[in-house]
Amino acid sequence: MKITRSRALMLAATLATAAIAGLSLSGCFEQATAAAPSASATAVPAAAPGAKANNEQVKRGRYLAQAADCAACHTTATGAPFAGGVELKSPFGTFYGTNITPDKEHGIGKWSADDFYTALHDGVTPDKHLYPAMPYTSYRTMSRADSDAIFAYLMQTRAVATPNKDADLKFPYNMRFGVRFWNMLFLEDKLPDASVGNSATWQRGRYLVNNLGHCAECHTPRGMLGQLDLKRTLNGNVLARIGAPDISPAGLSAAGWTAPDLASFLGTGVAPQGSAYGEMFAVVHLSTQYLVPDDMNAVTTYLLGDKPLAPQPLKPVTASGPEFDAGKRTYIAVCAGCHGVDGGGKPHVAVAMKANTTVRSADPHNLIAVTLDGIEAQHFGAKENMQEMPGFAKTLNDKEIADLSNFLRSQWGGQAGKVSESQVKDLRAQGASHH
Ligand code: HEC
Ligand code: HEC
Ligand code: HEC
Repeated sequence: MKITRSRALMLAATLATAAIAGLSLSGCFEQATAAAPSASATAVPAAAPGAKANNEQVKRGRYLAQAADCAACHTTATGAPFAGGVELKSPFGTFYGTNITPDKEHGIGKWSADDFYTALHDGVTPDKHLYPAMPYTSYRTMSRADSDAIFAYLMQTRAVATPNKDADLKFPYNMRFGVRFWNMLFLEDKLPDASVGNSATWQRGRYLVNNLGHCAECHTPRGMLGQLDLKRTLNGNVLARIGAPDISPAGLSAAGWTAPDLASFLGTGVAPQGSAYGEMFAVVHLSTQYLVPDDMNAVTTYLLGDKPLAPQPLKPVTASGPEFDAGKRTYIAVCAGCHGVDGGGKPHVAVAMKANTTVRSADPHNLIAVTLDGIEAQHFGAKENMQEMPGFAKTLNDKEIADLSNFLRSQWGGQAGKVSESQVKDLRAQGASHH
């Protein structure tokens, strides 16, 4: 069969698309540097000379930039606000958040509000197509007024002359032109609804979750070419060391979430279901803790739907035998000091294990990863702190961690214990190559 010209073009397009497959892992990179504390990242300095934006618009822009978590990828722990350089590692290579301060040479100081809107909406800048590492797939539905307010706010921040670093991608992912084809195939005008609803509160929540919060970028599974699998909105995705769980209405109900518990988790980092950790820590720390009460109510209303499903109680599981006893002994010996003999935890010190969603999840991935790696001490904001959770990779072997996980799952998670030694072994190996 002869390959026709148009067919050859199609093939080229498909190859180019395949070449950039997976580049849209926006938000779910492993960030080498945690973003800076919000206070410095978001302070509004005095108006820059010549800036015409009015104060109300700048204030709103600052709030919207927090809700959209721009700092997560554009502000490093030690760098100036929005000066870029945040390293975003992916299997395809490393992306860098860019300088979006008003610096005329290295930042976006020469841009118009139109240019800015086009970057957020289409992923296209005055001189290039952005990689979908920048989540324009979610920001696409941002209103013009909100884009203008964020632009006005950024234009008031201090101009910083930090040069951008080029993305360091492996061939063939480094072919920027491939993004054009990827966009043709996968850039949707709007993301599907995550729940059923129609109220004004629900609609505001849809905008906050689908657009500004870009929650789907981490919580929705991805297809073969790195695109969001829109048929499984918010059904959970394992991309980095810690997976993002199912936060669809069914997933939240199965894990026992209610609207007040979600508001506590997103607002303070801690809820009866556990604490925010992994990449979710930065989301709470830099973004969701600043949501005003009406917006928080909108977010939880949208996540659960206008008519929420009842939170499911823990299923009782009967387990016994030598492996259960071994898991229990390990728990009492090394975990109970912090998490309590009864699994009840200690306020502001360590979270409860009983009904904790990490223990309760059908997928034991996060439970095993946290037991191996631990969690560094986390300061969530004004209202909550948690001590450090040590990692046990060096002190517990695969069998001990498997037995321990199965004990926790059946005792306090309502899950049959099905964790195998080889699952622990695999995650241990992945963790070792991780550091
Ligand atoms: C998940 C990480 C992430 C988040 C969140 C994010 N960005 Fe980006 N952004 C990037 C990356 C990575 C690039 C560079 C992409 C490339 O090299 O093609 C970028 C590029 C840009 C650019 C283009 C700059 C230039 O000089 O070409 C602008 C403007 C921008 N982002 C603005 C924003 C704003 C405003 C927000 C919040 C509303 C935001 N970004 C949130 C990762 C992110
Ligand atoms: C020194 C105290 C300490 C010990 C010992 C400890 N933990 Fe933790 N653990 C914590 C703290 C504190 C957190 C919450 C960390 C945060 O979010 O900042 C935590 C979080 C967790 C989480 C994540 C759940 C969530 O929602 O945050 C799991 C799972 C967990 N621990 C399991 C264990 C297991 C299993 C052991 C024993 C092998 C153990 N821990 C031993 C302090 C401890
Ligand atoms: C950068 C990736 C990322 C983004 C963006 C993100 N999340 Fe998460 N989220 C995670 C990870 C990883 C976890 C698992 C660790 C934990 O429980 O804190 C998680 C956990 C959660 C949980 C706890 C679920 C459970 O059953 O334990 C909720 C609720 C949640 N996220 C809501 C949201 C909402 C709402 C947004 C958007 C405003 C959002 N997330 C954005 C990565 C992300």
